Amino acid sequence: MRPLSGSVFILSGEELTLPFAEIRALLETCGKKCERLSRRVVVSELEDPIKIYEITERAAYVRFGGLLVSRALNHYHLAEDLDPDSMEKGKTFAADSETLPKEIYGEIGGQIKQRTGARVSLENPDYVFQVERTDAGDFVLGVSSRGTKKFSWKERRPRARKFFLPSAIYPKLARLLVNLSRVKPGDYFLDPFCGTGSLLIESSLMGMRTIGIDLTRWIARGAKLNLKGFGLSYESIIRADSTFQSLPLARIDAIATDVPYGRASSTKGKNTLQIVREFVASSSDILNPDKYCVLMHPSNVELELGGSFVIAEQHMLYVHRNLTRAISVLRRN
Ligand SMILES: C[S@@+](CC[C@H](N)C(=O)[O-])C[C@H]1O[C@@H](n2cnc3c(N)ncnc32)[C@H](O)[C@@H]1O
Repeated sequence: MRPLSGSVFILSGEELTLPFAEIRALLETCGKKCERLSRRVVVSELEDPIKIYEITERAAYVRFGGLLVSRALNHYHLAEDLDPDSMEKGKTFAADSETLPKEIYGEIGGQIKQRTGARVSLENPDYVFQVERTDAGDFVLGVSSRGTKKFSWKERRPRARKFFLPSAIYPKLARLLVNLSRVKPGDYFLDPFCGTGSLLIESSLMGMRTIGIDLTRWIARGAKLNLKGFGLSYESIIRADSTFQSLPLARIDAIATDVPYGRASSTKGKNTLQIVREFVASSSDILNPDKYCVLMHPSNVELELGGSFVIAEQHMLYVHRNLTRAISVLRRN
C-alpha cells in the first residue's frame, strides 16, 4: 500500500479524449499537473479541498473529485492506512464506484466502517469514498465530503431557453468548450459567433466576464434574452462582424466558439473557411499572449494559423455521416 497526497478525479465514460482534456485544462488554471491512470481515472498534485470541489463542480465530464486516500495493488489494503479519526464523530459515509462491481466497493465500505467506526448512509452520506481500478491493475481510493455531483443540463437545453435556434448547442458541450479555453472566474471571455448564447450562459454561470458577438442583430438580442432568462449577467453582447475586430474593449483572456457552418447559421455570403481564416488572423490582436482560443469547426476546415497561434491540442467529435467536428485548442504566441 502506498499512501499518497493529492487528488483523484473520476471522469465520465463518454467520448475518448475530451473528458481528460477538460480536467487537464481546469487543473492548468490552478497551475497543477495531472496523470491519467486509466480512461476514467486521473490523479493530480492539487491538494486544496476547496479547489478540488470548484473544479469538480465546474467540469462537464467529471463525475467525482476528492482527496486521494490510497493506492494499492490489492483492494484489501486500500483502507489500511486510513486515519480512524479522519471523519468527524457522528458523520456518515458511503463507498461507491463508477466501474467496479458492488462486491468490491461494498467490501471496502466494510473496511472503512471497521477502521473508523463511522455509520453508513447510502442516501445522504457526509463522505463519499470512491474506489476505481487503474490500467496498471491497481486500485485508487478517494474521498469527498461534498456528496454526489448533480448537474441541471436539462434546464438549460436549447429548447428550454427563451430564444431558440436549431444551431444552438447543448450546455454540456458548451461548457466543455469554455473550460478548454483555460478561462478563470473574473477573466474576460469572448464568444465571437455567439448565436443563442450557449457558451455565454455557461461562462457567466462560472463567473467569467462574458462578451458575445453575432453578425445578426436579432440573434444577438436573442442571446441577451437567454442570459437574462436565467438571471445571468454579461459585460456586453453586441451585433458585430467578428472578422473585423472593432471591439469596444481592450484585451480578452480567453475565446471559445462554435464557428458558423451548414445552412442553419447565417454568414452573409462567406463560407466557413473564409470566416475562420479571417477570424484567426484578426483575433491575435485582441487575445492576450499565452492565452487560448478554442474553435469548434468542421474537421475538413484546415486552420491557417500564421505566426500568432500554435495548435495546443485537437479533438474529433463524430456528429453524423457527413459531419465530424474538430475542436482545436489554439495557444496565442
Ligand atoms: C454555429 S452558430 C453559433 C451557435 C451557438 N454556439 C449557439 O449555441 O447558439 C454561428 C453564429 O455565427 C453568426 N455569424 C456568422 N458570421 C458571422 C460573423 N462574420 N461575425 C459574427 N457572427 C457571425 C451566425 O449568425 C450564427 O448565429
